[in-house]
Order: sequence, then C-alpha cells, then structure tokens
Amino acid sequence: MEGDFFKDPIPDGHDVVIVANVIHGFSAECNLELLRRIRGRVPDGARLLLVDFWTDPTHTQPLFAALMAGEFLLNTGGGDIYSEEEARGWLQQSGWRVLEQKPLAGPSSLMVAETVK
Ligand SMILES: C[S@@+](CC[C@H](N)C(=O)[O-])C[C@H]1O[C@@H](n2cnc3c(N)ncnc32)[C@H](O)[C@@H]1O
Repeated sequence: MEGDFFKDPIPDGHDVVIVANVIHGFSAECNLELLRRIRGRVPDGARLLLVDFWTDPTHTQPLFAALMAGEFLLNTGGGDIYSEEEARGWLQQSGWRVLEQKPLAGPSSLMVAETVK
C-alpha cells in the first residue's frame, strides 16, 4: 500500500509490523512519532520487528554502523545512526516492550517488541 507513514493512516488490522532500515533515515523526534503512530493502529498483542544498524551508546561501535551516519544524513537530510539504548527508549515511550534482540548480517540486528496496554 502506498502512503506516507507520517501523514497517512497506518493500515490497521495487522498483528506484525516490520520497520526495516527506516529508522536511520529520520531524526529521533520523527522516529518516536512513527513508533507511536504504528502503536496506535495495531491491536494489543501485536509485534513490531525493528531492524537497523544499532550502535553502542557512544555511536562509535560497530565501526561500520558509525561510518554510515554521514551517508544517512546526506541521503535524507535528517538521518543518523542510533544506539540500541535510544531505540529501546523510544519503544518504551511509544507503547512497546522489547522482547528480544537477534543479530542479523553485519552490524544490523532485529529488535522484537510487543505492545504494552
Ligand atoms: C532504506 S529503505 C529500506 C527498504 C526496506 N524496508 C529494506 O529494508 O530493504 C527506506 C524505505 O523507507 C521508505 N520511506 C521513506 N520515507 C517514507 C515515508 N514518509 N512514508 C513511507 N515510506 C517511506 C522509502 O521509500 C524506502 O523504501
């Protein structure tokens, strides 16, 4: 379905939402807003699969992820790389609870979150 996930209604009726390689394209404020918008449209018990290049709290490790920050900023005008702790903070503020985190290829990993009532 086409649409702007900041302006158009997030399609409802889904119990799993994948947000892959999107967070790094936007500012922290926009990411929090996006996670809130998604939470507002899914039923209790839904899962969120959040995939991105999470870093350590200093934003310097893993190095490959850190080096991508400049490219993300140039590509979108507001992108960056974020730490795992930042992502967990946004999830907590937007009505999600992290269940597990699984490594993927390279510096990417998957955070699996479920709704909090
Ligand atoms: C880096 S790509 C990731 C694509 C795919 N999820 C993946 O992991 O291969 C970022 C995606 O976000 C989409 N996107 C960016 N801003 C958007 C917006 N405001 N509304 C909907 N989609 C958007 C782009 O069209 C692009 O497909």
